[in-house]
Amino acid sequence: MSAPSSHLFIVTGSSRGLGAALVERLLASPGNQVLGIARRTGPGHERLTQWSLDLAQPLAAAQQLQAWLAQQARPASATLINNAALLNPPGPVEGVELAALSDGLRVGLEATLLLSSAFLRAARPWGVPLKILNISSGLGRRAMAGAAPYCAAKAGMDNLSASMALDEAQRADGARVVSLAPGIIDTDMQVQLRAADPAGFPDHGNFVGYKSSGALASPVATAAKILAYLARSDFGHQAIADIRQA
Ligand SMILES: NC(=O)c1ccc[n+]([C@@H]2O[C@H](COP(=O)([O-])OP(=O)(O)OC[C@H]3O[C@@H](n4cnc5c(N)ncnc54)[C@H](OP(=O)(O)O)[C@@H]3O)[C@@H](O)[C@H]2O)c1
Repeated sequence: MSAPSSHLFIVTGSSRGLGAALVERLLASPGNQVLGIARRTGPGHERLTQWSLDLAQPLAAAQQLQAWLAQQARPASATLINNAALLNPPGPVEGVELAALSDGLRVGLEATLLLSSAFLRAARPWGVPLKILNISSGLGRRAMAGAAPYCAAKAGMDNLSASMALDEAQRADGARVVSLAPGIIDTDMQVQLRAADPAGFPDHGNFVGYKSSGALASPVATAAKILAYLARSDFGHQAIADIRQA
């Protein structure tokens, strides 16, 4: 898929919300090739490959990614953006189906780990600049009642990223790895939070207030900020970052 002069981007959660906005903006640059991964596909484009995959099965997805990358021509650079996340219905964990809890961790954390490993293994031989951008959350850095699996996935993503960044820093050809909180964005995830039962979710009113006060950023504006940050020469200097302070 990639020409040697093109930049390859892999974006998970590409079907809607922030991921769809990232893909759209990446495709606006003629030199970019994108692989999007989500359960559903979005609008097609000649430089977009889309995989309809459930990242709650992250091992199969990572194996598919590794095999696919091994068949691609060497691009000018390669970037993995782990953006997909699954929010369980807010509330204490005992009220959430066990399978849903498992899916939340698999999509939010295990997929990030396995796709990152597959990406590095397959892309390293190219000898081109590599980046991994993990879309985290402020909730990886502070606890919130009713969102324990999500908070755990994002906290895990932060320390996974920081530890991987240490590994990569020891290599001359090391990838740059960042876990980035994107701020609060007007997507389905916020709709889900506002629609949740306030019982067992004491922060419910805050999420209603974010929308009514206009505090939510648009996915398009957030994607633009994130991709500008990704392109900065100092990307990777800070493994755990927040776009609102970048
Ligand atoms: N929105 C916010 O305010 C906010 C705040 C902080 C952090 N974030 C983070 O920003 C990122 C993007 O969030 P968003 O607001 O755009 O969320 P969203 O609107 O809920 O979109 C989530 C994306 O993840 C994909 N996804 C979910 N489950 C999946 C699965 N099992 N397999 C494959 N793909 C799956 C969805 O695609 P399919 O449904 O088609 O599979 C969708 O493309 C997430 O990491 C989120 O945690 C968001």
